[in-house]
Amino acid sequence: MEDIYSEYLNIIRDFREYLERKMKRIVPCDNSTNSAFLDELYQKIKNCKRCPLYRSRTNLVFGRGNPNAKLMFIGEAPGKDEDLQGKPFVGAAGKLFEKSLKDVGISLEDVYIANVLKCRPPRNRDPKPEEIAACFPYLQKQIQIIKPKIICTLGKFSTQTLLNTTQGISSLRGKIFSLEEGRILIPTYHPAACIYRPPLKEQFLKDLMLVKERLETDA
Ligand code: URA
Repeated sequence: MEDIYSEYLNIIRDFREYLERKMKRIVPCDNSTNSAFLDELYQKIKNCKRCPLYRSRTNLVFGRGNPNAKLMFIGEAPGKDEDLQGKPFVGAAGKLFEKSLKDVGISLEDVYIANVLKCRPPRNRDPKPEEIAACFPYLQKQIQIIKPKIICTLGKFSTQTLLNTTQGISSLRGKIFSLEEGRILIPTYHPAACIYRPPLKEQFLKDLMLVKERLETDA
């Protein structure tokens, strides 16, 4: 039964990609289609053992939010609370992040949130290049399914991974980068950085305002 459902989703996906190639534009899907694709991906990867982080995880943290969002936020990796709850940005950084979204007028209902790494690095250490290499294809699939118009990367790791650069976050934040399929990427600081360096908050909010403006004009 599961195989037939999976086959059915493959046919829909192939047909959607065929239409996109033929019409050279993104074919809108209803919420339930993207939601089904994301769920199928989650089922496929929830027991992932591509890197050693699976050994210490409680939950694989896949993503949360609107499967049809025009705006996607991408963080670094789950922390303790995220690992326990299986959802991204539910701890202290998440609280600051959600409050900041509210302050600039971006509704949580309109966004999708995910991380580069789906499993928590021990003691919240930095992600290793080989962990990013193992996990990045999952994020790429999420982006392929959701097809956001705007991606806002939170912090150095997601920004460097998506832009394939080694440049530092302070020189990249607040700028607009073009990606494939007419998508744009706006990097900003990681919300956790605003907790331990409060002066960064002002620029963080400024970047979120830019994201909001682009959302209103482009998406
Ligand atoms: N930091 C991240 O980058 N992601 C989370 O989900 C939580 C904290």
